[in-house]
Amino acid sequence: MALPATHRHFLDLSDAGADAIAAMIADAIDRKAARAKWPKGQVDPDQPLAGRVLALVFEKSSTRTRVSFDIAMRQLGGTVLLLEAGSSQLGRGESIADTARVLSRMVDAIMLRTDDHAKIEEMARHASVPVINGLTDRSHPCQIVADLLTVIEQGKPLPGLEVAWFGDGNNVLHSILEAAGLMKFNVRVATPAGFEPDPEFVALAREGGSIVTLTNSASDAAARADVLVTDTWISMGQDAAAEKRAAMASYQVDRVLMERAKSDAIFLHCLPAHVGDEVTEEVFEGPQSCVFPEAENRIHAQKSVLLWSFGLLQ
Ligand code: CP
Ligand code: NVA
Repeated sequence: MALPATHRHFLDLSDAGADAIAAMIADAIDRKAARAKWPKGQVDPDQPLAGRVLALVFEKSSTRTRVSFDIAMRQLGGTVLLLEAGSSQLGRGESIADTARVLSRMVDAIMLRTDDHAKIEEMARHASVPVINGLTDRSHPCQIVADLLTVIEQGKPLPGLEVAWFGDGNNVLHSILEAAGLMKFNVRVATPAGFEPDPEFVALAREGGSIVTLTNSASDAAARADVLVTDTWISMGQDAAAEKRAAMASYQVDRVLMERAKSDAIFLHCLPAHVGDEVTEEVFEGPQSCVFPEAENRIHAQKSVLLWSFGLLQ
């Protein structure tokens, strides 16, 4: 079913494009600054989503995505309801298409976290309200809006930025690559052989003008980098195979890698972290780590994504 002309799905960053992502970040910075001393549940005075309801649909676990969308919606004057696969008919096999059509008559927008990306595309095809990707096995675009906001807050303009990724070529990396092509930063990807990102995302970044380097050398990727990023070696739904963990061992972000980067480089991680695996405690807790501001920024980024999806941000 068609969306109203002003409304938009946010399945991936390319749905928004560079100008809208820049607008999202600018609005997030303004709204965040305006409410710096307010209680977290206080509603923004303009209440742009007053009367709107967002359904949060989870087929996988979540802490940050769930809480940040809930608080984001409250701060914008709206409300949420939570639907978890295990306690809804989705978990008993009701189709995505029927769920989309029912929810579209009951709520004003749907956020879905699921496994197969085809499911969120199916949800969007059958929904007549905006559908937002809260993570699939393929991508995690909301996370990357928060990450870009964090980088900019640290005084690092995006064009020409050197971002280095370590470990598994996963959903979070895919959205970083998509962002790189749109926002014109470069990505060095250090993975073990066999764990590279989907070539489709590498091509997308390169088509956008990003310089993407694929390497098996963590040390090469870290050299003179501005931002070092990693994520869990075993994403939700994957087997914790001993061979994979062994292959990842030399991609741990540690002090030696941080010292290869620029002296003002920052460390990012979407969380949840497995300290001692993909990152050492020294780096995770160290002065260059921005992981907790990054987590907080999920709220501010989500607000911008919601406003854009409702056509209230161009
Ligand atoms: N980073 C992130 O999406 O965290 P959750 O899995 O807790 O939502
Ligand atoms: N790559 C991780 C991200 C979690 C937020 C996963 O999919 O489990």
